Amino acid sequence: MNKGLFITFEGGDACGKSTQVKLFKEYANLHPLKDKFIFIREPGGTVLGEEIRKLVLNYTLDAPVPKAELMLFLASRAQICEKVIVPALKEGKIVIADRFYDSTIAYQGMARGIMSPEEILNLNRSILGNITPDLTFYLKLGAEDARARKLKMLNNAGQELDRMEMEEMAEIDFHQKVCDGYDYIANLESERFHIIDARKSIEEIQQEIKQTFEKKLIQK
Ligand code: TMP
Repeated sequence: MNKGLFITFEGGDACGKSTQVKLFKEYANLHPLKDKFIFIREPGGTVLGEEIRKLVLNYTLDAPVPKAELMLFLASRAQICEKVIVPALKEGKIVIADRFYDSTIAYQGMARGIMSPEEILNLNRSILGNITPDLTFYLKLGAEDARARKLKMLNNAGQELDRMEMEEMAEIDFHQKVCDGYDYIANLESERFHIIDARKSIEEIQQEIKQTFEKKLIQK
């Protein structure tokens, strides 16, 4: 069924993921297969999903309780899977997602402890079926470095934290738990994971991503 290629970008806060997704988008725009690329982000990526993103990240009037938060992430994912990802892969497109279910395992599973990582994985599978990325770039940053980078961002004028980021900064070992969550899924589904040391320079990481992507394209 899967004629296309499904690639995800993952990582904890301040790992440089957004920068790398942006650079990869620029690369894709100049690529011979440029018409085949579709970029999405989670939560979001559909009209409903973008509304859910606002609710889950910035709605402080009646902030979602942990289980509601989990369900909102899954609702956004169900929408984007059925409306965008599955049809695009059937057509042979290259879908690039900024976050997918590994984020839910790391954040709602290991870090927030809403359910165990195994339960989150099962829940995800029972709702979405077996949609699994072909390749995942995981930008790995240790908990200490993540927290330090985040504090630096906080000190920069104009850098505003969303609801979840504020809660995360209040909990000292949150970043460590996010790392543990990513390690859990990276071990379990190691064949699709390409782990990148996020302390490397932006250019080095970009090169590594481009080379790994091109290799994957040839294998497909
Ligand atoms: P972003 O800043 O990379 O766009 O991610 C948005 C936030 O949403 C980030 O704090 C991680 C969080 N998130 C989860 O907690 N669970 C999920 O399943 C997803 C997709 C994101």
